[in-house]
Amino acid sequence: MCGIIGVIGDDPLAALLDGLSRLEYRGYDSVGVAVLAGGELWRIRAAGGGALVDLRSRVGKGELFEPSSSLTPGRSRGLPPGELVAAAGIGHTRWATHGAPTEQNAHPHSGCTGRIALAHNGIIENHRELAARLQASGHTFTSDTDTEVLVHLLEENEDGDGLAASMRRALRTVQGTFAIVAVSISDPDVIVAARRVSPLIVGIGVDRASGYVASDLPALLGRADCFYSLEDDQVAEVGAGSFVVTGLSGEPATPHELKSKWTLEDSEKAGYETFMEKEMAEQPDAISDTLRSRLRPDGFALLDDGLASAGERASALATAAYLDTIERITILACGSSLYAAMAARPAFETWANVPTDVEIASEYRYRSLAADARTLAIAMSQSGETTDTLQAARAVLGRGLPLLAVTNVVGSSLSREAQAVCYTRAGPEIGVAATKTLTTQIAILQLLAAELGQRRRVLDRGDVARISGSLARLPALVGKALAHHDEVREVAARIGQARDFFYLGRGVGYPVALEGALKLKEIAYVHAEGYPAGEMKHGPIACFEPGTVVVAVATRGPLWEKMMGNIAEARARRVTMVVVCEEGDRETAEVADEVLTVPSAPDPLTSPVIDVIAMQLLAYEIARGKGLDVDRPRNLAKTVTVE
Ligand code: G6P
Repeated sequence: MCGIIGVIGDDPLAALLDGLSRLEYRGYDSVGVAVLAGGELWRIRAAGGGALVDLRSRVGKGELFEPSSSLTPGRSRGLPPGELVAAAGIGHTRWATHGAPTEQNAHPHSGCTGRIALAHNGIIENHRELAARLQASGHTFTSDTDTEVLVHLLEENEDGDGLAASMRRALRTVQGTFAIVAVSISDPDVIVAARRVSPLIVGIGVDRASGYVASDLPALLGRADCFYSLEDDQVAEVGAGSFVVTGLSGEPATPHELKSKWTLEDSEKAGYETFMEKEMAEQPDAISDTLRSRLRPDGFALLDDGLASAGERASALATAAYLDTIERITILACGSSLYAAMAARPAFETWANVPTDVEIASEYRYRSLAADARTLAIAMSQSGETTDTLQAARAVLGRGLPLLAVTNVVGSSLSREAQAVCYTRAGPEIGVAATKTLTTQIAILQLLAAELGQRRRVLDRGDVARISGSLARLPALVGKALAHHDEVREVAARIGQARDFFYLGRGVGYPVALEGALKLKEIAYVHAEGYPAGEMKHGPIACFEPGTVVVAVATRGPLWEKMMGNIAEARARRVTMVVVCEEGDRETAEVADEVLTVPSAPDPLTSPVIDVIAMQLLAYEIARGKGLDVDRPRNLAKTVTVE
């Protein structure tokens, strides 16, 4: 969940600060940088809200970097950044797991000698046992983190044969997950990185004279142009323009080359005030990219594309014969990805005639039963790194069953472990709250449903043409939904101070309601519940009173009349009624205090992609009205690599 960066060559300090600002979405409760300069190791760290802004301004003001050898009495005091001619460095932005978000606990950590600095993402499960052993042999710990044990282990394993060799020896005793980057005064020509489960990328500079390590690609865009993802238990020695990878026993190893199309522009705000606003606005293009070349007048081509990209691993899934035998689909996901899966479920059932379950990944992995060979399991995660989804996926693979991954990140762990992968092509999403990754997930699953329906002959040629046409119109319709932003801002200004929000929907409107409530909680910190409207009478209605806001998804699907009945029941309790309704639908608008207008969906099953835009805009404007940082909501992180 934390962001990691390492740089050698280039201008390390500038590259580190720049990379960290692009990694902040990984965690932002404390931050730190350590650089090698003049035979010394120098470090600066900051904690609390706005930690990176604070750190940057301290560096800008020339605040002293503390030499990590200040641990040794009598050594030199700090240096201003202008006097540091750094050769290499590492940086970290943290989402606290072990130990409070204080400066003391911020990475990089240095050990007893101040000769090594290390940053880590993941959890060292046997840290207590290792720390006890190290303390018994004289090491002194200064933080509450599990990470610190790693740097003492490196010190303990130094044997004059280089930092990478110490790293390999040290990691043989470590249990848990890690992405690590470290530098050492004794080995100033390399940065050393290692990975187990938590992702780590090595990059070669555009200038061919710099080397990089990062937890995520956006940190390196514009500086590096060749990328490699380390595999589990690989250690990389990255020099200026080259690198060597070995396994933990020192055997040569090959990392996985990443072929990503992401560009620097994709990961910048491009004139928008926030990443979330930019990413909402990018949805028409993102959905077009997702559909491009996969949607044809005579049908769909997602599977060929998705299966081909997984190469030989696709074997089990690649045969039409297998797909024809599927009797069930199980989709595993968390957070917004879960709601995207729920929104697409009716398409699998209606267009492909396949019963479909959507499972919360963190629950599924602990269930004993499961899918059989006739169940197509799909694990969906925008990041491809969410631990709960990965572990649920591994449970499926562990039973010998085929797994299809749906993700936005090329080369992510999920994409590498599944037998086949379909990429959503949304481009990098930096705002913590999912927007374009969610709408592209719904679109891609609906494509898959349509393709299965076509293969299984549930859909005839007329159906195929109609569904294909409906999906093709989504980008334009999402654009029209976004054009209502100003109206939504006015609605948000009138209702934004309410304390309780209930979001109601039926059928495909229900996951839209769930996502609406999630967005409001995530970025505006307002209590909100998403509910199936039919269940309202079994509890939530007891909470309805004047001042309660009810947001009802009331676009014209087959359950619209039922929804209108539920709206009437809620209105009788004098709530503030907000409806999501279609342009020109006066009948629905009349029952509301406030209206969020969206264009009509050509096929009601595709309406979630359009209706959810109103939910995104509403949460966004309520949060902005409260002056909150929508890109970095408190306590959250973009990629959740803890259970
Ligand atoms: C975090 C993010 C959410 C995301 C969820 C699942 O909670 O803040 O936006 O929906 O993780 O992430 P995934 O990468 O698996 O889709």
